Amino acid sequence: MRNYTSQCRVLVTGGAGFLGSHLCGRLLAQGHDVLCVDNFFTGVRQNIAHLLEHPHFELLRHDVTFPLYVEVDRIFNLACPASPVHYQYDPVQTTKTSVHGAINMLGLAKRVHARILQASTSEVYGDPDVHPQRENYWGRVNPIGIRSCYDEGKRCAETLFFDYHRQHEVDIRVARIFNTYGPRMHPNDGRVVSNFIVQALRGEPITIYGEGEQTRSFCYVDDLIDGLTRFMEADAPIPGPINIGNPGEFTVRQLAEQVISLTGSRSRLSFAPLPSDDPMQRKPDIARARDLLGWTPQVQLEEGLRRTIAYFDALLSGATTALTSDHLSASASPRPSAVGAAAASGMAATSGVLPGA
Ligand SMILES: NC(=O)c1ccc[n+]([C@@H]2O[C@H](COP(=O)([O-])OP(=O)(O)OC[C@H]3O[C@@H](n4cnc5c(N)ncnc54)[C@H](O)[C@@H]3O)[C@@H](O)[C@H]2O)c1
Repeated sequence: MRNYTSQCRVLVTGGAGFLGSHLCGRLLAQGHDVLCVDNFFTGVRQNIAHLLEHPHFELLRHDVTFPLYVEVDRIFNLACPASPVHYQYDPVQTTKTSVHGAINMLGLAKRVHARILQASTSEVYGDPDVHPQRENYWGRVNPIGIRSCYDEGKRCAETLFFDYHRQHEVDIRVARIFNTYGPRMHPNDGRVVSNFIVQALRGEPITIYGEGEQTRSFCYVDDLIDGLTRFMEADAPIPGPINIGNPGEFTVRQLAEQVISLTGSRSRLSFAPLPSDDPMQRKPDIARARDLLGWTPQVQLEEGLRRTIAYFDALLSGATTALTSDHLSASASPRPSAVGAAAASGMAATSGVLPGA
């Protein structure tokens, strides 16, 4: 297996999404060859537009629920819609993406002896009765609820990763990512940070579900990417799982108030019923990441929010090329970008993406 410190061929599935696009940029900056694979279900081409001319960057439209045959040294498996609005749009496809996608990418890793990292999630802990969440906590997940396609899909993917590791000696890394925010989040996918910022910038009421007393931790995207690349680079065989997130804990109401203050908005708070299975508390224990990877998040919430607000401000005023008709049309309804974008471009949307596939 090639040493990661030298130039590697790195596959990033979901590379045109929020996290994937930042990861592709970081890997190119580190001198690697990057193959970005995406079916553009929620990702958009504009997220990676600045990378398209890079001599070490390649883009492939492909759905990970189908096998892929390429020669690579490393695989970051990020393909999966991440926001409830998107993953509940076609829940069967969401589970397929997690489970079939994991099988296909693990099969590839096994064939070409690549190291593979899974973008797992804090959602594997469900609505936790242990706080903060450590990696040895098995979680409290509803297997039949509306979030289960995502939560159980990701849990099953973790099982597959560890079975390929035990049974086939695949070199795996399982990262449990906690709530991450930053530029290139979809402006209207229902995630709390982007929602609040967009509502504040537009002067619309800020929607809080429940009383806003539920807590979340928010990791800035640069810190998250740093954690993922360190984990992949670690030469010691550390399969994980490892929590990657920011342990700073805030109530949703505190977040809303901070966004209002930083944007100088006159938005007021409005309250709506809590969605089903919404966790009341979320906070990572990151001792393992600190000890094994030497990683801790560096960007404070206020600074991260300032950078994200600047991005959305430019986006909404049309001052950045990052805002696209894909983003805007997708924001008008919960329908993710692939269906509309594929129809608009006359291309057939990848078969597995359409409802009822
Ligand atoms: N952002 C977070 O806070 C967070 C938290 C926990 C876990 N994660 C995980 O990180 C990964 C990336 O999340 P994100 O926030 O960038 O979401 P995102 O929706 O912006 O990106 C997901 C990408 O995967 C692509 N994709 C979806 N289904 C696919 C398929 N079948 N084949 C190929 N590509 C497909 C989408 O088009 C998109 O580009 C996801 O696996 C998500 O579960 C993210």
